[in-house]
Amino acid sequence: MTDTPGHTGDPDVIRGRALAALLGARERTALLTDCVDEPDLVAQHSPLMSPLVWDLAHIGNQEELWLLRAVAGREAMRPDIDPLYDAFEHPRAERPSLPLLAPAEARAYAAEVRGRALDVLERAALTGSPLTDAGFAFGMIAQHEQQHDETMLITHQLRRGPAALTAPDPAPAAFTGPAEVLVPGGAFTMGTTAEPWALDNERPAHRRLVPPFFLDTAPVTNGAYLLFMADGGYLRRQWWSDEGWAYRSEHAIEAPLFWRREGAGWVRRRFGVTEEVPPDEPVVHVSWYEADAYARWAGRRLPSEAEWEKAARFDPATGRSRRFPWGDAEPTPAHANLGQRHLRPAPAGSYPAGESPFGVRQLVGDVWEWTSSDFLPYPGFVAFPYREYSEVFFGPEYKVLRGGSFAVGEVTARSTFRNWDYPVRRQIFAGFRTARDAGPGEAETEAG
Ligand code: AVJ
Ligand code: FE
Repeated sequence: MTDTPGHTGDPDVIRGRALAALLGARERTALLTDCVDEPDLVAQHSPLMSPLVWDLAHIGNQEELWLLRAVAGREAMRPDIDPLYDAFEHPRAERPSLPLLAPAEARAYAAEVRGRALDVLERAALTGSPLTDAGFAFGMIAQHEQQHDETMLITHQLRRGPAALTAPDPAPAAFTGPAEVLVPGGAFTMGTTAEPWALDNERPAHRRLVPPFFLDTAPVTNGAYLLFMADGGYLRRQWWSDEGWAYRSEHAIEAPLFWRREGAGWVRRRFGVTEEVPPDEPVVHVSWYEADAYARWAGRRLPSEAEWEKAARFDPATGRSRRFPWGDAEPTPAHANLGQRHLRPAPAGSYPAGESPFGVRQLVGDVWEWTSSDFLPYPGFVAFPYREYSEVFFGPEYKVLRGGSFAVGEVTARSTFRNWDYPVRRQIFAGFRTARDAGPGEAETEAG
C-alpha cells in the first residue's frame, strides 16, 4: 500500500505536536467564547445549534473522559454533569433548557481539566496502547475541540445582531488556468493506515479503482451559481432530484442561505455584516440538493468521494497517495485557507502553492465540498475508540463532505478527512465543485 505517514517515532516530537494542537484549539475556543457577553453565551441562536456555553463545557467533558479517565485512569471530576454534555442524550434543541454550567463555571471546569490533561501528556508513555500510540488520544481531543470551534463559528454566523468577530480578508486572485482537469483512470490508495491521528472512519488504507474523469479546477463560484439562478434553476423541476424538489418547494428555497434580494441583485449576511455577494468567491451555504441541481443544470455531476480523494492525494509521478494536495508537509497560510484566519472563502483559484499534481486548487480549506457519496465504512473499518464518533452515522441518510472549510483547524485538515451531514443542511460552510465522466478517447488509462 502506498499511504504516507505523518509524524512517527520520537515521543518528544509527538508530545510537542500534541501540546501545540491542544493549545491552538483552546486559543480559538477562547476567541469564540470571549467575544460575546454572558446572556449571548447561554442563548440559543438557532434550534439547529447548542448555546455556545454548552459547546464550551462539552469540550472540557470530552477531554476529561478521554485524557483523564480513559488514558490516566482518574476518577470522574463531576459525574453529575456527564449526562448534560452527552450529545446523544439531549438533542441540540433541548440543550438550553438543561441545568447547564453557567459561563464562569464552564470556563473554570474546562481550564481545570486542561491543566490536569497537560500533566498527563507530560508523563504518558506514548506507546504500548492503541489509545496513546503516537499520541492518538491527545490528537483526537485537539481535533474534537477544533470541530466544535467550527460548530461555534456556525453559531456565530446564525447569530443576529452586530458582528462579534472580525478578521482580515484573503488576498484577491486572478486565476487564468483551465476550468477543469483530467484525472486519469486507475487504482489508487484511498483512506489511511499510516496517518497517526487519522480518525476511525478514514481507516484503513485500501485500493480503489477510479475510472477517468474531469474535475473542476476550483470550487463553483457565486458568479456561476447566479447564472443558474438567473436561468430559473430553482424553478425548473428537471434539474432536481425528487427529494430535492420536495425540499426546495416545502421551504420555498430560492437562493443560498443568508442571501437576500436587494434591487435587481442579491446581498448576503456574513457574521453580522450585510454585503454584496462577491462573484469570484466559492458559493457557500448550499444544501446537497442545491449542489446536485446546479451540477445537473451545468451538464455535470458531483464527484464521488473516491474521485475527490484521488484528485486530492494521488501523485502520478510516484503512484503514492500523499497527505495533502501539495504533498506531505503540514499546511501553511500559503497552501490553504484554514483555521478561521479569514471569515470567508478565498476567491476561486487562490493558493497556487496548494494545488495538486493535476492542477486542482483549493481542495483543502475554503469550503467543505459536497460529494455524491453516502457516508459508509471502508472495507475493514473498526470503530475506535467509540462507536458514536462514526459508526452510528453510517448509512444513506448522510452525504460525505470533503476538504474542509475556512473554519477547519489545521489539525483536522488532510486529504483523508471525512465529514458528513444531512443533504438538507445549509448552515454549514459547504459549497461544491463538479465533475464529468471522461469520454472514450479523452482518457489515457493506466494500469492499476
Ligand atoms: C464530524 C462534524 C459531523 O459535529 O457532529 C463533534 C464532529 N463528533 N463531536 C459533529 C463531532 C463529536 C461531528 N462531525
Ligand atoms: Fe462533540
